[in-house]
Amino acid sequence: MATVSDGRMACTREERVTFVKGQYERLWDNVCQRGEEILKQGETDLARVVQLMRRERWQDFPDPYLREKYKKKEEERRRSGFLYDRRHLPVYDVDPRVIVKMLDAVKMQEIVNLCGSDVKRVVETGSGWGKTLFNVWLHGGPRDAEYRALEITEAGRKTTELIASRCAPGMDMKAHFFDYFESDFSCLKGDKPTLVYTHHSIEQVPQLGENFVDAVLAIPGFRCCVHLEPVGWQVPSTSWLRRPRSRRTMRHIDDLNRKFTLKHNQNQNLYPLLLDMERRGKIRITVVRKHFCSTLLHNTTTLIVWERPEGEPRSAIRRDDLPQRRMWWPFGASRAA
Ligand SMILES: C[S@@+](CC[C@H](N)C(=O)[O-])C[C@H]1O[C@@H](n2cnc3c(N)ncnc32)[C@H](O)[C@@H]1O
Repeated sequence: MATVSDGRMACTREERVTFVKGQYERLWDNVCQRGEEILKQGETDLARVVQLMRRERWQDFPDPYLREKYKKKEEERRRSGFLYDRRHLPVYDVDPRVIVKMLDAVKMQEIVNLCGSDVKRVVETGSGWGKTLFNVWLHGGPRDAEYRALEITEAGRKTTELIASRCAPGMDMKAHFFDYFESDFSCLKGDKPTLVYTHHSIEQVPQLGENFVDAVLAIPGFRCCVHLEPVGWQVPSTSWLRRPRSRRTMRHIDDLNRKFTLKHNQNQNLYPLLLDMERRGKIRITVVRKHFCSTLLHNTTTLIVWERPEGEPRSAIRRDDLPQRRMWWPFGASRAA
């Protein structure tokens, strides 16, 4: 029988928040201890500190449970191969941790592109210890913008503030309390062109409420919202994989992701919620990349971008979930665009 402690039975808001706090306070507390150690050794360069603090360096965790957990993830990465640029690629010889770094660059580039030249505030909800916001900065995020890390755990927020104050003096970074179950952005002051993104945190909310999207739309200066979340199995599309466009592989990846989500009671409604809001004219979805990339085949990252429905779209429309335009190729062959 599953218990609240493993997340499967955590159905109410209180149960889910208790489970999440138990899991992530412990993890971010370990990461914080690692950070303090690294700083004590005299490291101050943000790029080095972020690399040294990552979970992929599981050997360095003080907690044996976490060492074992992340060692297993590394083995899984080697076994399952990875998704990159619409292809499923095996891992033969490289250290699987390289793949995490490669795919970081792919994801960060999407966010940096969407920041364009006007965004003056970058907000991450469910920001953990701030790793992804630091990464946006390191990948060329806007210099004169505010970076705001919104997170439920105290250990996550404390670590963000610690690393920002010691290693990122040129970055305007602050952490604030945030809970998806009661979305409140009153910590964001003033009207500034704002990009909001999420990276594997809505995954922790089984049913996201429409009030989250409404609250994002109400942020003064809101420009667009980017989700990098494992919800590809919710998106209908059988053309997201390039050659070989194996229907069997695509079905297999959907099944793996659906099973993992249901087993761990992770998010089951992000894409249908956004689609419904789009149909009602509240938002416009510009990008849906079903299984955009992944280092773990059962928990792949989907890219979804949305914005207000009015005006010119901020970026090109790239949607795996809409009927594909047919293109004619030489030699009489045809394939979807
Ligand atoms: C897998 S971690 C990802 C952290 C971060 N986004 C990153 O990319 O490193 C999931 C994060 O979501 C946070 N989280 C879970 N439930 C939340 C909630 N109800 N409100 C806000 N954050 C939440 C967790 O505390 C944790 O930091």
